[in-house]
Amino acid sequence: MSHVLVLNGPNLGRLGSREPDVYGSTTFEDLAVLCRDTGRRLGLDVDVRQTDDEAELVRWVHEAADARMPIVLNPAAFTHYSYALRDALAQRTAPLIEVHISNPAAREEFRHNSVVAAVATGTIAGFGMMSYVLALQAVAELLAETPAPH
Ligand code: DQA
Repeated sequence: MSHVLVLNGPNLGRLGSREPDVYGSTTFEDLAVLCRDTGRRLGLDVDVRQTDDEAELVRWVHEAADARMPIVLNPAAFTHYSYALRDALAQRTAPLIEVHISNPAAREEFRHNSVVAAVATGTIAGFGMMSYVLALQAVAELLAETPAPH
């Protein structure tokens, strides 16, 4: 089974109570269960993590690069300004799918730019929690196209 990291940036641990009009009422724990169940269905072993700490997120990205592990990443606010995260992601050795629950392009101006998008395989945004399901499906398809070397 291929391992996939689903990484989440700041404030996403507060899903469920955080701005429900924007992010819905699903809690982070519910999201983690959804990702793990989706992974199981797709033959992926999914490890879901969340941090409010940029340094920790960068360390997890390094871990994925060293292990040639795909990442589904919701960088949250780091999307818009973290060059440290972007530089870490540029070292990736496997697919990287950027995800957003909301559609940042339809929101405030400062959310329109992603410093991460240019180093990602692709971006999925605006589908609520389904963004993660679609991203995991994309990872499964990409891995099927290019099986890991033995
Ligand atoms: C977000 C969008 C970001 O602009 C915001 O800072 C977040 C969540 C999303 O999933 O829609 O924290 O990444």
